[in-house]
Amino acid sequence: MAKALIPAAGMGTRYLPLSKAVPKELIPVNGFPVLHHVVAEAKAVGCREIGIVLSEGKEAIRTYFSEDSELLAWLDGNGKRHVMSEWEALMEGLTFRWIDQPEQRGLGDAIACGESFADGDPVCVLLGDTIMEGGSPLGPMVAHYRKSGFSQVAVEPVSRSKAVRYGVCGGVRDGDGNFQLNRMVEKPLSEQIPMMRDERGQPLQDAYAFAARYVLTPTVFGALHAIPPGHNGEVQLTDAMAVVLEKEGFGAVAIPGRRLDVGTR
Ligand code: UTP
Repeated sequence: MAKALIPAAGMGTRYLPLSKAVPKELIPVNGFPVLHHVVAEAKAVGCREIGIVLSEGKEAIRTYFSEDSELLAWLDGNGKRHVMSEWEALMEGLTFRWIDQPEQRGLGDAIACGESFADGDPVCVLLGDTIMEGGSPLGPMVAHYRKSGFSQVAVEPVSRSKAVRYGVCGGVRDGDGNFQLNRMVEKPLSEQIPMMRDERGQPLQDAYAFAARYVLTPTVFGALHAIPPGHNGEVQLTDAMAVVLEKEGFGAVAIPGRRLDVGTR
């Protein structure tokens, strides 16, 4: 998979007042911005073209991923170039495209802004404010996509009481432990939470929520243009994914560890 699309244009209201000055995607975890880890995760599955969706006030993200020849020259002159070694190793072989999202109309709209970057190719989508602790699901998702041709979403089990806050899906687990989906709903009412079943058709106790990583075929862009605004008046990615599910089918892969959403304090 050559392309990774990373939405990082959100308002970050849950992280105010800090996000007035610092994009939440640049909050450090283990000494590096969240987004540095996210780009490294995309690179690990072969993505070399990185499209980052930005908005006004988030220029610091572009600065972080841009080469500063004056700084490098100064570090060289002062015997300190080694402090940039991890950054330089990450940047090796990557090209960046900066995509503008003029209005913050939700995740679906941010993805729609990446249509010309995708240019008819499938893309890995990684939310810019979320890292995967304990391993990335992207490798198995790309493998599952190559095998089936279906879009893929990472999922994590959540209690049914929490499921009402998330985008959730239902379907059936196959012999490889992956899921074939048959329903998707954004923030369902508690009596409408979709059911996930095991290989023998037995219902699983937990609900399954979307977990910040996707492999999407280009069909999603047409769906994003066609759907009306959904929950909260935002263009909901879940609604567009449900259209893709109907047209083509959709798979899911459970995350191996824990999702860390840095956008919440
Ligand atoms: P979130 O919904 O967590 O981000 O989106 P947000 O809207 O910034 O959060 P709050 O609710 O205001 O605190 C997940 C990812 O999608 C991006 C965000 O930057 C984040 O990395 N996003 C979200 C966009 O690029 N555009 C949007 O319109 C919304």
